[in-house]
Formats: sequence, structure tokens, C-alpha cells
Amino acid sequence: MLEVGPLDAFYGDSHVLHGVSLAVGAGEGVALLGRNGAGKSTLLKALLDAGPRTVGPVRFEGRPLDGLPTHRRARLGLSLVPEDRRIFGHISVAENLELAAHACGPGVVPRKVAEVAALFPLLQPILDRGGARLSGGQQQMVAVGRGLVPRPKLLLLDEPAEGLAPLIVEDLAREIARVRRAENLALLVTEQNVDFARACTDRLYLIDSGTIVFSGDWAAFDARPELESEYLAL
Ligand SMILES: Nc1ncnc2c1ncn2[C@@H]1O[C@H](COP(=O)(O)OP(=O)(O)O)[C@@H](O)[C@H]1O
Ligand SMILES: [Mg+2]
Repeated sequence: MLEVGPLDAFYGDSHVLHGVSLAVGAGEGVALLGRNGAGKSTLLKALLDAGPRTVGPVRFEGRPLDGLPTHRRARLGLSLVPEDRRIFGHISVAENLELAAHACGPGVVPRKVAEVAALFPLLQPILDRGGARLSGGQQQMVAVGRGLVPRPKLLLLDEPAEGLAPLIVEDLAREIARVRRAENLALLVTEQNVDFARACTDRLYLIDSGTIVFSGDWAAFDARPELESEYLAL
């Protein structure tokens, strides 16, 4: 479904991604793990042409994305939930979801608030709550729900577990895994939290200094315990 690279990415003169190759199959869950500054967000932004300058191919459902602006890529079925969540505090959860529907371009039939709440039952009791009165876990749930409004085929989540308490992380991973299966949604999630990533994906890539240093399933990752200390531990 998604085929990337080899891809290079730049911010001005700064060369951040070096020949990154990565793929996500239809309905597949894939994690991209790496430390702060490894290039995870840069890769997700590159997929939507939302930041870095890139050199190299990105194909989605067989179609080259070069030259397509962000909104056209979104219309094809790519949806990014950025790491800063960006929930509006002065309006309700339901209104945050409605705003996302208004932001969908032509050619997209957005999910209604009730449909998103049906996908994520944990949102149901907080639909009327102000965005400023949500816990970190609730904010992240709203952010993911908002990412689902345009009915993406591939959901891109940027470090969803960051800053959340361990119990909440477990709930969020379980909910995301459930929605993914129910909707046959493909997922590319960046993380530093191995447990979270494992709970909602089938396999993983490790990125370090803008280079992919490992690719395999979770069993292959577990068979090499040095990977976690080398590329993830602080
Ligand atoms: N807007 C930007 N301008 C210049 N450099 C950036 C910008 N965003 C990120 N970088 C640099 O690119 C590298 C990768 O950053 P990023 O993709 O945000 O890493 P991660 O998401 O894995 O923490 C880092 O060295 C970071 O300092
Ligand atoms: Mg990041």
C-alpha cells in the first residue's frame, strides 16, 4: 500500500533522512521506533509533504506521490496525527471532531461525530467536555479519533504514547489495535515505547540518525536484545 524510498530528507542544508526504505501493506500495522531526533517525525511529515524537502520515491497504492500537495495526499487516504495533538481547548470534543470534518476536502465523506464515537467508545462520555478539560490520554484519543474522520486507509500516528501514564498507554494501544482490525486500517506508528508499539503492530523498523538499522517482526526484534539498548534506551 505504501512504498517509500530510498528517501532522503532535508531541512535547509541539514540532511536528516539517509536512504530510508520502508513499506506498509494494506491493513498492516507497522512501527517505526527510534530515539529523540532519530528522524521519525520527519519521515511521517515527508509522507504528507508537510515539512522537510525530500528526494526519492513515495508510492501509495501504486501511485507516485511526488508533486502532490498535502491535501491531495490526505484525499488519497493518508491521515497524520501529529505528536503535539493540537486539540482546541475552548471547544468541546464533539466540536473538535466536527472541525476535522469541515477540514476534509472535496471527494472525502467525513465520519460524523457519532461514527467516531462508535469506533472509540471511550470518547462517548466526553463528547461534551471542553478540550481544555481532558487528561493526556483523553486528548490523545480525541486526536486519533480526529485522524479517523476523513476515513483514511493509512493512519500515521506520531508518538501517541508520549507522556501518558502506563495504564493509559495500555488502554490506548488496545483501542487502536481494535479499531485497526475492525476497519482493516493500515497503521504506521512512530514510538519510543516498545510495549505500546508491540501491542498495536505486526512488525517494526528501527531508525537511528536518519538511517534504518533494523527491520523485522517482533520475534526477530526480541531475539536481539542488544537492539533495544543500542537504539532505544536513553
Ligand atoms: N523544522 C526543523 N528544522 C531543522 N531541523 C529539524 C526540524 N525538525 C527536526 N529537525 C532535526 O531533524 C532531526 C530529526 O528530527 P525528528 O524527525 O523530529 O526526530 P524524532 O521525531 O525521531 O524525534 C533532528 O536532528 C532534529 O533536530
Ligand atoms: Mg518526533
